[in-house]
Amino acid sequence: MAFVSDDLFNDICMANDIVDYASSFMTVKKSGKNYMACCPFHNEKTPSFSIDRDKQLFHCFGCGASGNFVQLVMRLEGLDYKDAVRQLAERANITIPETGVRELNAVTEKKELILEMNKIAARFFYDSLIDPKIGMEARRYFTSRKLSKETIIKFGLGYAPNSVDALLNLLKSRGYKEKDIVDAGLAVMRNGKAIDKYRNRVIFPIINVRGKVIGFGGRVMGSNELADGTKIAKYLNSPQTLVYDKSSNVFALNIAKNSNEKSLILCEGYMDVISVHQAGITNCVATLGTALTEQQTKLLNRYCNEVLICYDMDEAGTKAALRAIDMISSAGGKSRVIRITGAKDPDEYISKYGVSGFRTAIEKAMPSTAFKLSLIRQKYDIADTDGKIQFVDEAAMCLATLNNPVEVEAYIKKTASETGISERAISAKYIEHKSKVKKPRPDRTKEEYKRREVNRLNSEKPKSERVGATVIDAERKLLSIISKSRRLCIRASELIEPEEFSNSIYTTLATRMYDCVKNGDTIDEAIILNEFSGNTDAENTAAAVFFNNEEYSDSDKTLYDLIYTIKLNKIEIKINSATDAGEIFDLIKQKNTLADERKKWQNIKSEGK
Ligand code: CTP
Ligand code: MN
Repeated sequence: MAFVSDDLFNDICMANDIVDYASSFMTVKKSGKNYMACCPFHNEKTPSFSIDRDKQLFHCFGCGASGNFVQLVMRLEGLDYKDAVRQLAERANITIPETGVRELNAVTEKKELILEMNKIAARFFYDSLIDPKIGMEARRYFTSRKLSKETIIKFGLGYAPNSVDALLNLLKSRGYKEKDIVDAGLAVMRNGKAIDKYRNRVIFPIINVRGKVIGFGGRVMGSNELADGTKIAKYLNSPQTLVYDKSSNVFALNIAKNSNEKSLILCEGYMDVISVHQAGITNCVATLGTALTEQQTKLLNRYCNEVLICYDMDEAGTKAALRAIDMISSAGGKSRVIRITGAKDPDEYISKYGVSGFRTAIEKAMPSTAFKLSLIRQKYDIADTDGKIQFVDEAAMCLATLNNPVEVEAYIKKTASETGISERAISAKYIEHKSKVKKPRPDRTKEEYKRREVNRLNSEKPKSERVGATVIDAERKLLSIISKSRRLCIRASELIEPEEFSNSIYTTLATRMYDCVKNGDTIDEAIILNEFSGNTDAENTAAAVFFNNEEYSDSDKTLYDLIYTIKLNKIEIKINSATDAGEIFDLIKQKNTLADERKKWQNIKSEGK
């Protein structure tokens, strides 16, 4: 997994501050030696997410999420190991020498390969678009959509020629294998033969926040209804690939994140976003053909203080907007709704009412609660008593989902003046609904997380060798003690082999720590943890070892007790599964010997500081 040398890795981590970094994602408070926050990886109200600034490690005492600085970056930003290291290097203005790039694992290599092919493809589509002959119809189409040359360049729009193998042949001539081209989503298999996926379509490249082309959307030019009445897909999009996931990326965020606005405008379509940008409003993004997902919501909230939802005004768009409002607020963000009345989508709105019209619509963006209430209001005739009662009831139900008491009060006042019903009566309805609002599913308890970990660690072993939480606990404590003391580490290396630990993660940790002390190196937790990068479960289990805050009055005795527990347990497991009397007899003898040894350990203390 080495991507940079251990030294450079250290430099990069040390040049940044994990607390400072984490603070942009959560509220971090100092508490004793460490820093605490509410865990970003599970739901909680009291902080159990702890950050060790000196070691640059994190650990959640609730859900067990744990790791080094780079692993935190990986998880918070959804990056792979290399990108996370790069991200931290960039933050600290450190250049990673190209020669540092070695030993990429197969997945990382394949990702790179797909990104390379995507880049070539994007270039090819663009070149085809500007080719006087090949791109003529596509250019005409973009002109009909009022897109300028600058806009086409800014978004890297293109055209996939009407050919089954133009791109395939280009990529093959550059040495890419057909299988990889298909895996990149650039070609599809038809009757056992690979052919270009995008044919005779205009192309919208999808670029991630780091500026990499991760996928494409290809639109038919003109109507998707053929002369004979059959319909074809208006858009063809990249399939899920190693680098593209439509539910975790957002179109044009690479550009929008650089705008100086505090908000992001969220539209439904590529064309909407492009029109809005062309109008000089550069904080506009879109989802990728799906309803807004949780991952996208998090991504948006990370890059702005407020999302301005700008969906189509039809029934589907309104429904999607309501859903988006709730998604954004559950993820802790704020939203308002831009209403584009008189046009089917933002693109058409700008054509019809111009840039100034759209800017006015942005300024008039409606607070989400007001938007929801206005939709409820439309359903009822409040001149009628029954209508009024139903409206107040549903409005109160809507307010019951809010968490801000000031907002609730303001809207109760407004509803009262709208309907003539007293604030007191509306409040009573509100309280009634509030008590019914279903409480979020109770958090998984610490014990449940622990149990899952024990099951997971055991899953690599045959049934007869599975250990209980006590053993895993003992092993974790033992590893923790030796990570803090060279002397005890040496002592442990004399008494217990790495292979005697019950799982491969602990075995690796013991091996690495023993090696460190034998070679006279200091034990660097963050470097050791790198070994597990990319495997979240392993990262959690490994890093938790370094977060044991227990103090032992006699750490030597504790060390021996723990080693004894571990060894004894191993023998007992064998006894339990043994079938042969001789074998059992042998094991019992071992047990007795172990007890005698235990006494000896305590008396002989090893040399050292
Ligand atoms: N979409 C898709 N596949 C389709 C239709 C739509 O993936 N068959 C996605 C695209 O991401 C599209 C978005 O849904 O951008 C919104 O759809 P729509 O409003 O129909 O498309 P526009 O981008 O507005 O395109 P146009 O104005 O050219 O019709
Ligand atoms: Mn449209």
